[in-house]
This record gives sequence, structure tokens and C-alpha cells, in this order.
Amino acid sequence: MIGTTSAGSIGAVLRECLTAAAAAPSIHNTQPWLFGVRPGTVDVYADRRRLLPVIDPHGRELLVSVGAAIFNLRVALLAHGRVPIQQLWPDLRRPDLVARVTIGPHTTVPPTARLLAQAIPHRHTNRRPFSDVPVASDVLAELADAAAAEGATLVVADSEVRRAVLGLVRAAENRWRHDPAYWCELATWTADRPGRRDGIPPAAFGPWSAMELVPLRDFGLTQPFRGRHATGFEQSPTIVLLYTAADTRDQWVRAGEALQRVLLTATVRGLAATPMTQPLEIPELRDLLTDAAGGQVAQVILRLGYGLPATPTPRRCVDELLLAPAPASGRHADGAGHSRGRAGPRPSG
Ligand SMILES: Cc1cc2nc3c(=O)[nH]c(=O)nc-3n(C[C@H](O)[C@H](O)[C@H](O)COP(=O)(O)O)c2cc1C
Repeated sequence: MIGTTSAGSIGAVLRECLTAAAAAPSIHNTQPWLFGVRPGTVDVYADRRRLLPVIDPHGRELLVSVGAAIFNLRVALLAHGRVPIQQLWPDLRRPDLVARVTIGPHTTVPPTARLLAQAIPHRHTNRRPFSDVPVASDVLAELADAAAAEGATLVVADSEVRRAVLGLVRAAENRWRHDPAYWCELATWTADRPGRRDGIPPAAFGPWSAMELVPLRDFGLTQPFRGRHATGFEQSPTIVLLYTAADTRDQWVRAGEALQRVLLTATVRGLAATPMTQPLEIPELRDLLTDAAGGQVAQVILRLGYGLPATPTPRRCVDELLLAPAPASGRHADGAGHSRGRAGPRPSG
């Protein structure tokens, strides 16, 4: 039985599914999600206390991250033989209630769902150098199909577009590097505190790309004492862009679902991936990558390739993510229809 137990605590299978949801990637590992569990239903909330006001003032990347968690929840339920029925923004009075996932009828587990669910704990953002082995075109086509299955478009950059995109990533990284507010925000989410279960630990920063061939986000910017070593990266990184048809909050969530389907499919195929979203956080640069009239709004830039295993990042445990059921009086502590359970303030540790 999936759902709450008679005592009101969640059952083992649902806990497994929520652990899968929480393993999703998120901007700066902010893990901006909370779950409200009732029998047969999981409400997925955006936790705006974890918004990054400098790079993400409108919460676009926050909702992309929540979308990735929703995809994991859906695929984990399906892998347990239950059809997930998803409704976005089911209650307009609760703007942070992003999705209601109802645990639907029993079903035979589709082989793809099983593979994707098995890949969830093995997917990690990889900031290491990749080999120069090109990604096979049939694998890239499979990734494009994965994005399309979630209503998004994945485009592989040809050499000219790749040069242009990497130039914009470099320009954005350089711009952020000179912004004191960016430093403060980054320092908050990269501070290494014992017991911390969010943010990016130094072990996941990755090395420097000598010659800035691959301009990954510099998570060690505020910690130069760590002396990250410079190393050679792949000469011609494989770069893909994930687009949605519009730039609405719905589409941001869909982009997250598509991103996660692409990342899990890549994991199944032995591919490593690094989001490189710096230019998408600067409106003028994002505009250069977007063709709004043509229905191609840039949501994520990804680098793909084959690399040594990446360092996992920590996660808060499921109990910290659960909202207590709303009191019968209908008065809510957080305006989101739930009182806060053990979900703590940001950031943790
Ligand atoms: C919307 C979004 C944007 C991201 N942008 C970047 C980025 O620009 N550079 C980077 O190295 N990682 C980026 N990431 C990856 C996160 O840092 C990563 O998911 C998080 O630290 C958790 O680690 P994990 O993916 O290994 O589980 C992004 C992730 C998301 C969901």
C-alpha cells in the first residue's frame, strides 16, 4: 500500500518515492521543495525561502528544480507499479503548490520507467573533464526524444553554435564574478559546514578548465584558499540546449521535468552531464539564446560527455521535507495550506 499509514506517518514505499524526488538536481543544491502527503496524494510545494534572489529573482530556476523533483517522484511511483496522475497548480489560492501527484491505479511497470528510476541515485552533476570521445548521434537522438516526451525541445549545438554558446557562458561567468551580490549568494551555498545537507560541498566544485575551454561555474570563487588545480578539458564539448515553447511558470516546471528525463536517460547511457546556466540568468544574454517568436525559449544549457564518476552532493532527509497536514480550522501557518512540519529554514546545517 502506497500512502500514509494508519498512524499518519508515511509508508516505506512512499518514503522511497519521496527520497527519489529529493535526489533531483537543483540550482546550487538549494533543494527548494516541500511535500504535503495525504492518503493517495503527494502535494509538491516550491519552498521560496530557498530562492536565489541574485541569479534567479523570478524563481525560474527554482521551478525548473521543482520540476525535476516532480519527474523523479512520477518515475519512482511508476517503477512501483502505480500510475502517477499529475496536476499543475491544482489550487490557485496556493501559488506555491506546484503540483498534486495522485497515486493512480496499478499498472505493469514500463521497462523505461524501471531503468530511469534505477538511474536516479547514480545521476550526479559532473564537473570533471570529459573524454574527447564524441557522443553517438543515436544517443543524442534518444535524449531529444526524452525531452520531447516531456513537452520540451533538445537541440544539439553545431560547432558554430557551440562556440557562440560557450562565449556567452564565459561572458556571463565573468559578469557574475565581478558582482559582489553574486559572491555573497554563492558563498552562502558553498560554505562548508559540518553536517550540512544542502549547498555544494568543495569536493563537488571540480577542477579549473585550463584556458577556460569549458567555462563551468566557479563554485570555488569565494574560497580561493582551496587552490583547485587546473587541468585540460575536452577540446570540443558536446553542448545541448533545452527549450520550451513559452516562458511561463508552467513551462519552467515542464523544463525541469524534461531536464530530469534527459539527465536520467543520459545516466542510463553512461553519459555525464553538467548544466551551465550562467547566461540564462542574465536577461540580455538569455535573449540571445531565445527565439520567443519561433517558440524556442532557452531554459537549460547542458554539457555532455564521458567522464570519471562525479562526487555526490548531500540531501536533506525526507522527514525535513514533509509539511504537517493543515489544521482542521483551515487556518494555515504558511499561507500554503499547511503548517510547517519539520521543514527548516534555509539553508541547512
Ligand atoms: C536549473 C539548474 C541550473 C543549474 N546550473 C548549474 C550551473 O550553472 N553550473 C553547475 O555546475 N551546475 C548547475 N546545476 C547543477 C546543480 O548545481 C546540482 O544539481 C546540485 O548541486 C545538486 O547536485 P547533483 O546534481 O550532483 O545532485 C544546475 C541545476 C539546475 C536544476
